Amino acid sequence: MDSGNYGKYDFIVVSNRLPVDRVAEDDGEGWRRSPGGLVTALAPVMSSSEGAWVGWHGAPDETVEPFEHDDTHLVPVPLSEEEVEFYYEGFSNATLWPLYHDVIAPPEFHRNWWDAYKAVNRRFAEATAAIAAEGATVWVQDYQLQLVPRLLRHLRPDLRIGFFNHIPFPPVEIFAQLPWRRQVLEGLLGADLVGFQRASDTSNFLRAVRRYTGSLIKQHFVELHDEAGRRECRADTFPISIDVARINELARRPDVVERSRQIREEVGDRTILLGVDRLDYTKGIGHRIKAYGELLEDGKLQVEDTVLIQVASPSRERVESYRLLRDDIEASVGRINGTFDTLGKTAIRYLHHSYPTEEMVALYLAADVMLVTALRDGMNLVAKEYVAARTGVDGALVLSEFTGASDHLRQAILVNPHDIDGLKERILQALNLPKGEATRRMRAMRRQILQNDVEHWSQTFLHALAAGRG
Ligand code: G6P
Repeated sequence: MDSGNYGKYDFIVVSNRLPVDRVAEDDGEGWRRSPGGLVTALAPVMSSSEGAWVGWHGAPDETVEPFEHDDTHLVPVPLSEEEVEFYYEGFSNATLWPLYHDVIAPPEFHRNWWDAYKAVNRRFAEATAAIAAEGATVWVQDYQLQLVPRLLRHLRPDLRIGFFNHIPFPPVEIFAQLPWRRQVLEGLLGADLVGFQRASDTSNFLRAVRRYTGSLIKQHFVELHDEAGRRECRADTFPISIDVARINELARRPDVVERSRQIREEVGDRTILLGVDRLDYTKGIGHRIKAYGELLEDGKLQVEDTVLIQVASPSRERVESYRLLRDDIEASVGRINGTFDTLGKTAIRYLHHSYPTEEMVALYLAADVMLVTALRDGMNLVAKEYVAARTGVDGALVLSEFTGASDHLRQAILVNPHDIDGLKERILQALNLPKGEATRRMRAMRRQILQNDVEHWSQTFLHALAAGRG
């Protein structure tokens, strides 16, 4: 490409989703913040740097012109109805997602899904190549776009390319199932730096590279030979975090504090257990509800003085396993409420909605105990948000050891969510935590996340990406 063809952006984030989604509203079309941890983490990174964000705008069969949003240049990549089905719902969320999350649901392997994945990854790479300035830094995000680094390097060898995987990278014994495992690894190795949430993800990736590409690996560096000659790809661990200052600030805002008081009043001034998740089978929502239901049954908890609020935000609703999960969860909620509710008090307040951050922070402030019982989770930002919101240095966090967050929040009440008796004990322990101990634990966790906010994450990654530049 000659210099006349370069674009003007020096820093570009590429992710399947843009930070905002196209939605139909009563009075026309509008935009709404996209779901999930990726956008939660990256939005503040982008708002503090002038760059571009390449991603899908969430609606099928629609071409949207680039536009500015919160000082970021957004470049929507169109997906056809069939690509949404094959690339997004299919290969991304019914092949890779379950495969990378310990095969909690069985992954499906379909060749036409793989073809769509390749085609869409190519489109993302081309859209990025067209707007990148000479020598720009491009940061590709997550499992939907694993082929982009290699495709992009081919189109634009001048770029510095980083990739970050927000979800776990599976052990090689599981990854081995993927019929296109070598192509995926080669796609990722197109980057200069590949980042993961946990040290175990990084070592799983390096083991897979060793086994299926035959590349030479020295510690964290993979030696590669391509068109441009010899180069290296570094793989390393960069645990993601949240915008701690923003959550802290919201948690002190009088209207948010007042809203949390209202929430407590609305549930009848009972002890509040809280779960907040996308409605996803990786989150262990069913295990949590089962444990809570058994505690009511055993008479260890009473509906008169305890309530479980479960926010389950709608997610991937056209994917079969998500539909089944929803039926399952709603049946258990119905059963438990049917058995234990009184006319005035309900056992589980189940909310199938997404809420703005203000409302979430009010919920965190209102909750005595936060339950994060994921069966597998790259990081889990909800756990970190709860800690950041507890400005009173109180409350208790029950946290699954299968989350990346458990590497850092060691003073949480750690639990194996598959062990229902253990989970019940941990919930009771959290409910009865002596005040001094609760404060000690929360203080230590707050210190940890205050020092490691999302800014720290992105700066560490981007410094590592810039280092080693020839
Ligand atoms: C997780 C993934 C993100 C994804 C988000 C929401 O956080 O790591 O890549 O965007 O879930 O899922 P969705 O399929 O709605 O984009």
